[in-house]
Formats: sequence, structure tokens, C-alpha cells
Amino acid sequence: MTVCPPLKVVVLLCAILLTLAILLFHSDEFKLIQSSNFTYQFKNNGFGHSHGFHSPPKIAFLFLTRKKLPLDFLWANFFKNGDQAKFSIYIHSQPGFVYDKSNTKSPIFYNRQLNNSVQVLWGESTMIEAERLLFSAALDDPANQRFVLLSDSCIPLHNFSHTYNYLMSSRKSFVDSFFNVDEGRYNPKMLPVISQEKWRKGSQWITLVRRHAEMVVNDEIIFPLFKKFCKRWPPADHDTGRKTTEKHHPNCIPDEHYVQTLLSIRGLDDELERRTLTYSTWNSSIPKEDKRSWHPVTFYYPDATPQTIKEIKEINHIDFESEHRTEWCSVNSKYTSCFLFARKFTPGAGLRILEKDSSENPVDGKHG
Ligand SMILES: *[C@@H]1O[C@H](CO)[C@@H](O)[C@H](O)[C@H]1NC(C)=O
Ligand SMILES: *[C@@H]1O[C@H](CO)[C@@H](O)[C@H](O)[C@H]1NC(C)=O
Ligand SMILES: *[C@@H]1O[C@H](CO)[C@@H](O)[C@H](O)[C@H]1NC(C)=O
Ligand SMILES: *[C@@H]1O[C@H](CO)[C@@H](O)[C@H](O)[C@H]1NC(C)=O
Repeated sequence: MTVCPPLKVVVLLCAILLTLAILLFHSDEFKLIQSSNFTYQFKNNGFGHSHGFHSPPKIAFLFLTRKKLPLDFLWANFFKNGDQAKFSIYIHSQPGFVYDKSNTKSPIFYNRQLNNSVQVLWGESTMIEAERLLFSAALDDPANQRFVLLSDSCIPLHNFSHTYNYLMSSRKSFVDSFFNVDEGRYNPKMLPVISQEKWRKGSQWITLVRRHAEMVVNDEIIFPLFKKFCKRWPPADHDTGRKTTEKHHPNCIPDEHYVQTLLSIRGLDDELERRTLTYSTWNSSIPKEDKRSWHPVTFYYPDATPQTIKEIKEINHIDFESEHRTEWCSVNSKYTSCFLFARKFTPGAGLRILEKDSSENPVDGKHG
């Protein structure tokens, strides 16, 4: 029996440590566990000056707009009261449209646009392409940990700190996702990758945790299938009177199915709060048959009363009629209000909300 001399052990240990150190210094990318919560990934050994190293986790606000952001003044007020280190803003707008003094009321939105944006046709796959571009841009900042998709008619319902704490305290994504919806939108040509059983439907306005955002951006399988087999009918150019040569296919609105279906195929239904954080309401006086005119109700100045906003903020459960279920909204099993955002609001309605906010929390009257 041989006994290892202590010296040999020390030499061996030194050799191992040296090898490890060399490996670490020469790797282009390595992962650093910043806290038990978050893994920050640095490129090129970003010692010291890497952005994100000392910053707290951020929420990425992703605005999907047609051109300008009509409610910029309301959002600017929301962000003004937030900690700059805790959020980032990204905007997908029409290619070539530049946010500047002439169309935007706050510099907070300047230079926040993607410069690789695409022309979005409502209800077409370019919409989910735009969403993916937003997630992708926001993923470049390792501090971004929650990703909130917002439309240009969305308003914030609460102040920044409430919104931040609500989102950060949930380890799940918020994705409205219904099972068993048979509206004839599913196209069996998506088999075998997308089975009818995995087909999901839900609101486009989602909030994702980082891992799920990465899945959406890295998806190279489901997205092409959607591009090919989930299209609206009649096609968009029908509206302009052009004759379409496309064969008839199911009418499908990609943005109401894509992320939901992708996450379900990845087996992640359990990692979702199956509800949207963005309130909207439908006009119940329009008959069900007349689906084309089903749009969320728009709130104008007279509709945006303090009482209405208060009622929306206090909603604490949702009735999902198609699934015969009532969900009492919770975050990490703790009951809470359901909504952080609401749509669709006009600038007039936004102004009324801002007036009320300012009268309750006069900024100038604040004492240090
Ligand atoms: C995650 O991080 C937050 C803020 O940095 C901290 O308050 C919380 O306790 C951490 N949670 C866990 C599970 O480590
Ligand atoms: C956008 O512009 C910035 C700065 O001009 C540049 O660094 C970046 O690579 C561009 N991104 C894309 C996707 O073109
Ligand atoms: C934000 O809202 C919460 C809940 O409504 C409130 O308790 C808190 O004081 C507010 N914070 C600020 C900075 O106004
Ligand atoms: C609902 O639709 C009806 C019929 O089109 C219309 O008269 C009414 O103004 C709408 N209500 C709202 C709140 O949009």
C-alpha cells in the first residue's frame, strides 16, 4: 500500500488550479453567478467595466408601435418616478421613423428604436417577427430579467415601484394561454411538430422571464411553420382590392398563438401564470357572429374617469368562460390585483389620467 506524500498532493492541486485559471482567463465567454437568482453572462472577460455587473435586475419595456408613441407623456411620467438602473426601453416602430423632438415629448425615448425593424402588417407574421426582434435586442443587456410587451395604446396602471416589485417577485411568465380552442385556426399541415393538443391561444400582450424570452428568440422550428401555415384570411392585400392567388386556408392570427404554442410545445405550461397583465374589454353589444368587428373597446377622455381606472386596478379575478374557470390572480401563490397595464387608451384619455395623477402626487410639492 502506498501513501501519497503530502508534497505530491500540493503539487497536483497547484497544477489543477493553474489549469483552471488559464482556462478562465482565456475563454471568451464565461458565466458568473452574480447571486443565486441571476446568471450574468459576460463577453470578452468583461472585467470591471462590463455593463450590468453592478446593476440590479432590470425590466425591459418593449413597445410595439405603428409610428410614434402617442402616450409618451404618460409613460415618461411613469419612468420619471422609477429608478433608471431598474429599467430599459426598446421600441419597434416603422422602419425609417425616428423618435426625436418633433414627434416625441420625452428624450427618454430617443435612440431606443431598433434599427433593424420590419414593416409590420397587423395580423401577419411580421408582427411576431417584430416581437422577436424586440426580445432579441433586450436580451443583449444581461441585466434585463423581465420582458414586457406593450402596444402603443397601453397605459401603466400603477407607479414604477409597484410594477417593478410585482414583476420581479414572480418567477413565472405572464402568458394568457387557452387550451382546447377550436376556432378552425389550427392548420393540420403543422403536424407533426405542432399537434392540435399543443395549440394555444391568448392575448398578444405578454411578459416573459429571461429564459422564456431566450426560447422565443432562439426558436428556429416553430416560427417558420407559423410563417407558412398561420396566416390571416383573407390575406392583407385583399383589403387593397388586389386579387389574391393564394389558396384558401384557415384564418389564423399569428400573434394570438405563437408564443403560447411555442412554450406549450417546450412543456412550459407550468412555468406560466396563464393570464395577461394588460387589461382590455370587449364590446358585448356586438353580436358574436360579427367577429371581424371585435376589437377591444377604446377609452376616450370621457371614459377615463378616476372611478373607471380605480375599478380596473382593483380587479382581482378573471372569468375564463371558454374553460369554465375563474382565476383569482396571484403572484407566487399570493393573491394580488390582476393588471399592471390597460389598453386601448387615446391621448385624450391619457391626459385625463395624468391630470389626476399630478393632482394626487404633485411633483413640485415633493419634499426630500
Ligand atoms: C433574489 O434577489 C433579490 C434582489 O436581489 C432578493 O431580494 C431575493 O431574496 C433573491 N431571491 C433568492 C431566492 O435568492
Ligand atoms: C444599430 O445602430 C447601432 C449604433 O448606430 C449599431 O451599433 C448597431 O449595430 C445597429 N444595430 C443593428 C441591428 O443594425
Ligand atoms: C407606489 O404605489 C404603491 C402601491 O399603490 C404605494 O404603496 C407606494 O407608496 C407608491 N410609491 C411611490 C414612490 O409613489
Ligand atoms: C359597442 O358597439 C355598439 C354597436 O356597434 C356601439 O353603438 C357602441 O358605441 C359600442 N360601445 C363601446 C363602449 O364602444
